[in-house]
Amino acid sequence: MVDLKGQYEGIKEQVNSSITEVLDSSAFINGPHVHAFQKELEDYLEVKHVIPCANGTDALQICMMGLGLEPGDEVITADFTFAATVEVIALLNLTPVLVDVEPDSFNIDPKAIEKAITPKTKAIVPVHLFGQCANMDAIMELAEKHNLYVIEDNAQAIGASYISQDGKKQKAGAIGHVASTSFFPSKNLGCYGDGGAIFTNDDDLAHTIRGMVNHGMYKRYHHDVVGVNSRLDSIQAAVLRAKLPNLDAYNKKRREAAEKYTKAFEGQSDIITPKVLREEADGHVFHQYTLRILNEKRDNLVQHLNDNGVPCGVYYPIPLHLQKAYVDERYNEADFPVTNQLVKEVISLPMHTELDDEQIEYITNLVIDFVNN
Ligand SMILES: Cc1ncc(COP(=O)(O)O)c(C=O)c1O
Repeated sequence: MVDLKGQYEGIKEQVNSSITEVLDSSAFINGPHVHAFQKELEDYLEVKHVIPCANGTDALQICMMGLGLEPGDEVITADFTFAATVEVIALLNLTPVLVDVEPDSFNIDPKAIEKAITPKTKAIVPVHLFGQCANMDAIMELAEKHNLYVIEDNAQAIGASYISQDGKKQKAGAIGHVASTSFFPSKNLGCYGDGGAIFTNDDDLAHTIRGMVNHGMYKRYHHDVVGVNSRLDSIQAAVLRAKLPNLDAYNKKRREAAEKYTKAFEGQSDIITPKVLREEADGHVFHQYTLRILNEKRDNLVQHLNDNGVPCGVYYPIPLHLQKAYVDERYNEADFPVTNQLVKEVISLPMHTELDDEQIEYITNLVIDFVNN
């Protein structure tokens, strides 16, 4: 699904020399590379504060801790996403409220959010799934109207932009009150292990969170709040510093590959290609290239691709509201028509910065031959 080795070949010198610097300095934790990366990412995202941490799941959890959410508070998020989002809500004894998504963008449906808001609702967590922003205009409007926090889960859309109705262009993750991201190796900006970060423009929240990632300390050995130990290590920061200057070029390559896939699938009646909702060049950064395969052909297509040496993924095969850990009698099947359908139809094809035309042609021919037989 990804070609991390191929990508590494292109930046080997920078990565190796950055890592060597860390080894030579022995500043393995909170070293100069971590601070420099934080600053460079703040500049790239045009946010006031980036707080690096250990992974994207921690980042989400720490956002919720930093906002002071308390047990019993309801947090609305998408039914169709990776489990990390709902996991941290549950871990903090907050009440997850899963809602349906939109069929074209796969992102949380603002109408479903509105329906789910109660006096206990405190936050909305839109996940910018597969590389494209959720409808942030509608979500921010709802948040303002109901006095809610918006925590953007930006694990899959780093580098994407969003132009609001008023024409303002912002990077994904810079729009809500606070955002999280993941630097898992296969992400658009991935390190060589685990890593994550929190972004916010709120000075007070940034201060609170900076202490929280470090055992709740604002002054050494003074623990003012309950915190966690969640740090981005210096070696990962060194890798990320070598990659960040290439992020826009990497995302461009992903978009170009996506365009080629989509062109090849034109006119195929059993295939729905991913919809790019926004015109701007970086409106979609294709963390995944996800098709909908109609007429119950998806599962056999997965098998067919695997049999022919093409990796593919089903993200995600089970709606979160049907996962054992998160079943709840509050949920009504009739509220999840889109997610329940998507889990049967979606398939993600290989998507990375090293895909070439020959690979794309091989993959698209296999898919097209299969759906037409
Ligand atoms: C939408 C989403 N949120 C959160 C995470 C968690 O990130 P991490 O694996 O770095 O903990 C992921 C990772 O796959 C993700 O895709």
